[in-house]
Amino acid sequence: MSAITFQNVSYAVEDRQLLTNITGSFEQGRITTLVGPSGAGKTTLLKLCNGLLSPTSGTITVQQKPIDTFVPTTLRQTVGMALQAAPMISGTVYDNLCLPKKLQRQTLSIEDAQKWLEDVHLPASLLTQQARDLSGGQRQRVSIARTLVNRSPILLLDEITSALDRTACREIETLIQKINDKYGTTIIWITHNLEQAMTIGHHTWVMMDGQLIEAGPSSLLETTTNEQIQAFVRGEAR
Ligand SMILES: Nc1ncnc2c1ncn2[C@@H]1O[C@H](COP(=O)(O)OP(=O)(O)OP(=O)(O)O)[C@@H](O)[C@H]1O
Ligand SMILES: [Mg+2]
Repeated sequence: MSAITFQNVSYAVEDRQLLTNITGSFEQGRITTLVGPSGAGKTTLLKLCNGLLSPTSGTITVQQKPIDTFVPTTLRQTVGMALQAAPMISGTVYDNLCLPKKLQRQTLSIEDAQKWLEDVHLPASLLTQQARDLSGGQRQRVSIARTLVNRSPILLLDEITSALDRTACREIETLIQKINDKYGTTIIWITHNLEQAMTIGHHTWVMMDGQLIEAGPSSLLETTTNEQIQAFVRGEAR
């Protein structure tokens, strides 16, 4: 079953076509990576998945329902997003974890906040720390924990490991695999790291110049007969 489906989706800003005729689906409970050269339209496509942008033409369904029939808050809750910069509000780690609940006029208990921190392998003592003092890796974990608070069945990740060193990157990879295993979360992950796409991703979408060039099992990055993709994998077009 598909978690998100694109049917002939195009997106343009003024007279610039950023995405052209994208058709494909993201399978429920699986990790799909989005790869392609800089400027290919990956982030734009991700923003269409949670309603930050709306398509110029075509249809997007989320859990079999047209995306434009969702109440915005329900959509944001269903489709969570974490970004490379992992933006934090000023205040403590706890304040940041409370944010999704606050937006729904609900509260998050200290016990629950501790549980989410444990889930991302951070000590409960970190709850009272100022978010601005977190290391890059810790910050990314808090950002991921903040999406877990919503129990989103679908998670969008935009280059969340790009600014991290190798060890922190590996830890986040393991964490995302754990979340996918434990909660069956559908994950759509933009990455520049093709090794990561092949080892962590079940499926891969290769995008170039606003188009979906190929989609399939991640092994396609090694087995593809498409010359453009072969050149991209060799590092000639990143
Ligand atoms: N609001 C906008 N108005 C005009 N052009 C835009 C807008 N947003 C993005 N673009 C352009 O659309 C293209 C795709 O951008 P996008 O951010 O989706 O690429 P990307 O694949 O995520 O690239 P990167 O790997 O560098 O993050 C780029 O050429 C970008 O400059
Ligand atoms: Mg991008």
